[in-house]
Amino acid sequence: MNPGDNSRKRIYSAIQPSGQLTLGNYLGALRNFPKLQDDYDCVYCIANMHSLTVRQDPAELRERIYSLLALYLACGLDPDKNTLYLQSHVHEHAELAWILNCYTYIGELSRMTQFKDKSSKHADNINAGLFTYPVLMAADILLYRSDFVPIGQDQKQHLEIARDIADRFNRLYGETFVIPNPLIKRQGAKIMSLQEPDRKMSKSDPNASNFVLITESPDSIMKKFKKAVTDSEAEVRYDEENKPGVSNLINIYGAVTEKSAIEVEKEFSGARYGEFKTAVGQAVVDALAPIREKYGELMNDRAYLDKVMSEGREKASAIAAATLRDVYGRVGFVL
Ligand code: TYM
Repeated sequence: MNPGDNSRKRIYSAIQPSGQLTLGNYLGALRNFPKLQDDYDCVYCIANMHSLTVRQDPAELRERIYSLLALYLACGLDPDKNTLYLQSHVHEHAELAWILNCYTYIGELSRMTQFKDKSSKHADNINAGLFTYPVLMAADILLYRSDFVPIGQDQKQHLEIARDIADRFNRLYGETFVIPNPLIKRQGAKIMSLQEPDRKMSKSDPNASNFVLITESPDSIMKKFKKAVTDSEAEVRYDEENKPGVSNLINIYGAVTEKSAIEVEKEFSGARYGEFKTAVGQAVVDALAPIREKYGELMNDRAYLDKVMSEGREKASAIAAATLRDVYGRVGFVL
């Protein structure tokens, strides 16, 4: 970050450390982050406070926080160019979330599809945090006056509510927040399950054949792609509705190799499904292998990870404190 340069637009995104990261997280989000670091002022958060909306084992959560930071770095994020920090290290998130709760309606939160989804999955623990989750996410984004938010398709609705809350607040109190824009790539923004391609690939899926982890072994990745569900035709053609399995594989291959669906169809015209699936698996292995190696090295250097986290905390806190102070003044709190 170059604090003297105010002309650069700010990028903000976050990932929850609530499971090991999948190929979906990689292609939908993480992979796009390093490409932005030279042209934007980028802030990336480890959203551990969001993770608590679902029960977590404390020791595992602590480990996954390090693991996510190591993945941020292993994917190519340079800690000198980006701000990488832990959400709970910056107390302004919780404080702004409270304020924004008072400008968010129960009706709009009730319409969030992720809330409906998660409350049906965790019917025994439909806590208030799960319900107000999008407000904390809005606080994350708005605290940093973020211009762009690179995310996968599933987070689009949350970004929209963040924009609505920001706009509502600005109308009442004057220009306070920057209205953020989503950055959603055409390919890779919605990676589906390998066995049930009508569902999104998710780190919380109980069936491990449905997802590929970023740190998974090449052998295991190849096996999963070889048994990925296709269809009874024998044509590599993009048709989400009628050929969801094959279309998902085309999307994955296209995102990894930076080719359009049409180019992928051409490349595999006349190929058997077996051949195609092997090629997709190999492309994914090739993309993930260097990350896996770097990740292993970083996880053995906790002192370095702690140092990066503590530097991130300082940089993030400075930005967040200024925004919160502005907000407190505007709503009429004595500073
Ligand atoms: P999370 O942790 O579920 O996912 C992290 C990122 O990965 C993307 N993603 C996918 N992209 C394509 N295909 C998939 N199958 C797939 N699964 C996940 C997500 O869209 C996301 O970009 N609420 C957020 C975390 C968050 C956040 C924020 C994001 C908290 N505060 C502020 C942006 C800005 C979440 O749960 O993402």
